Amino acid sequence: MEAMFNVIILIAAMILRQPNSVLSNVIEERVLSSGNRINFTELASLYGLKANEYNVTTEDGYILGLFHIPGSNHSRPVLLIHGIDLSSDCYLIRGDNSLGITLARRGFDLWFANLRGNIYSRRNIYLNPDTDPEFWNFSFNENGIYDLPAIIDIVMNKTKAPKLNVIGHSQGNTGMLVLGAKRPEYNEKINKLIYLAPVSYLSHVSPVLSAFISISPLLNLIGEAAGLNEFLGYNQRLTKLYRAVCTSPVSAYAICANLITFPVVGFDPTELGPTFYRVTNYYLPVGASRKSLIHYGQIGIRGVFAEYDYGAVKNVAVYNSSLPPVYNLSRVDFQSVLLVGNNDGVASVKDAERLRDELPNVESFRILPRKKMTHLDFIVDREPDPGHGVEVQHEVHVDEDAKPGQPRHQRDLDNTYS
Ligand SMILES: *[C@@H]1O[C@H](CO)[C@@H](O)[C@H](O)[C@H]1NC(C)=O
Ligand SMILES: *[C@@H]1O[C@H](CO)[C@@H](O)[C@H](O)[C@H]1NC(C)=O
Ligand SMILES: *[C@@H]1O[C@H](CO)[C@@H](O)[C@H](O)[C@H]1NC(C)=O
Ligand SMILES: *[C@@H]1O[C@H](CO)[C@@H](O)[C@H](O)[C@H]1NC(C)=O
Ligand SMILES: *[C@@H]1O[C@H](CO)[C@@H](O)[C@H](O)[C@H]1NC(C)=O
Ligand SMILES: *[C@@H]1O[C@H](CO)[C@@H](O)[C@H](O)[C@H]1NC(C)=O
Ligand SMILES: *[C@@H]1O[C@H](CO)[C@@H](O)[C@H](O)[C@H]1NC(C)=O
Repeated sequence: MEAMFNVIILIAAMILRQPNSVLSNVIEERVLSSGNRINFTELASLYGLKANEYNVTTEDGYILGLFHIPGSNHSRPVLLIHGIDLSSDCYLIRGDNSLGITLARRGFDLWFANLRGNIYSRRNIYLNPDTDPEFWNFSFNENGIYDLPAIIDIVMNKTKAPKLNVIGHSQGNTGMLVLGAKRPEYNEKINKLIYLAPVSYLSHVSPVLSAFISISPLLNLIGEAAGLNEFLGYNQRLTKLYRAVCTSPVSAYAICANLITFPVVGFDPTELGPTFYRVTNYYLPVGASRKSLIHYGQIGIRGVFAEYDYGAVKNVAVYNSSLPPVYNLSRVDFQSVLLVGNNDGVASVKDAERLRDELPNVESFRILPRKKMTHLDFIVDREPDPGHGVEVQHEVHVDEDAKPGQPRHQRDLDNTYS
């Protein structure tokens, strides 16, 4: 069975392999000519930037890959958090036009998280991701309770900054909401969260995603029976098949973009064209848990932003209540800046408005001007200017200008930063 599957992947890869057309940036050229993903450090170095790597261990034993591109100015450190089945790399793959490289060139001190289970963070001191199903027993709940506190502690320790700015895309924001609600002591460590396509409620999603949400309890049963706890890990067979088909110039756009990606995230062929689309499929999907997906499904079905639902009986054992507790969003009291796309099939304007209305400290809520802005455009936009990139830079700058003449943070005072 497994051998047969591998043969199918091999044959698909051979049939679909084709010469490349004109390539517009060095990442496209490197990735598409070699047919291989290149990692964060290499992506950064293609643009003359040096990235340092850290391994962060969480309280419950997960080892997370964290990357640092040191800043040249005394700006407040910025932590960037990726979405589901993505990694830190998503902030660099657009090269000169990416948010990560744009901010690095402006001198910001940048830290790039990788949440448990993805390609850089598929490690645990006690558990083996390949043989211990318990490794995958997590959702964005654990991202918020364990991963983000461990990452934030390290960044604050290394930079001596009193507060961080955070940029989250998609699920990165869900984890931050859990952090603010469940670990309120972290609220004071965050200056502001800039939400790119914030995901919390999922009541007004694209029809395809809505259908997935409806059948998610069934998919969960099937996944459970089949022992599929990891959801689209980089080296899983289904992912390899997806990659073979969805990076090929023959089938990528015709099949994968039009039938899978665009229907889920929103249609925008202008920003996500055929060549670059193929590159994105080396960077998405790169690993998540089934439980994360099912947890989102439950939120979509119930219309309540609550903890994981184990069913009435087990809920009593886990939560002492037959329904899972609701995340108390009124505790999330760092400043919130929400940037929302008009054409986002996952984080819709209506759902984002509901989130805005429940957060206590919303500094601004902006629906981006470009009508076709989708869920993925926040990371694959051709131009950060004049789209969300300008808005994000404005946000991190305004913060620096807030108190002219005063030290911006401890680093200015003791110069111990290294
Ligand atoms: C990135 O790739 C380079 C070259 O293959 C390798 O030496 C390095 O260890 C990789 N780093 C990470 C964090 O995977
Ligand atoms: C992080 O851990 C990996 C092994 O999992 C190791 O190869 C790498 O050198 C470590 N990096 C640092 C900075 O400790
Ligand atoms: C860093 O300095 C450069 C040049 O002096 C400036 O253009 C840029 O805006 C500064 N960045 C920050 C984050 O202050
Ligand atoms: C997963 O973790 C929860 C608590 O976080 C626990 O109650 C449960 O038994 C664990 N295992 C499974 C298979 O759900
Ligand atoms: C932070 O730094 C201090 C002193 O350098 C060290 O004792 C402490 O263990 C560090 N904490 C973390 C989470 O790295
Ligand atoms: C469980 O909930 C009930 C009421 O809802 C409460 O009386 C009881 O103290 C709770 N038990 C624990 C262990 O928290
Ligand atoms: C939510 O948190 C707020 C602020 O801490 C508190 O006043 C309120 O009672 C909490 N609500 C619930 C349902 O726990």
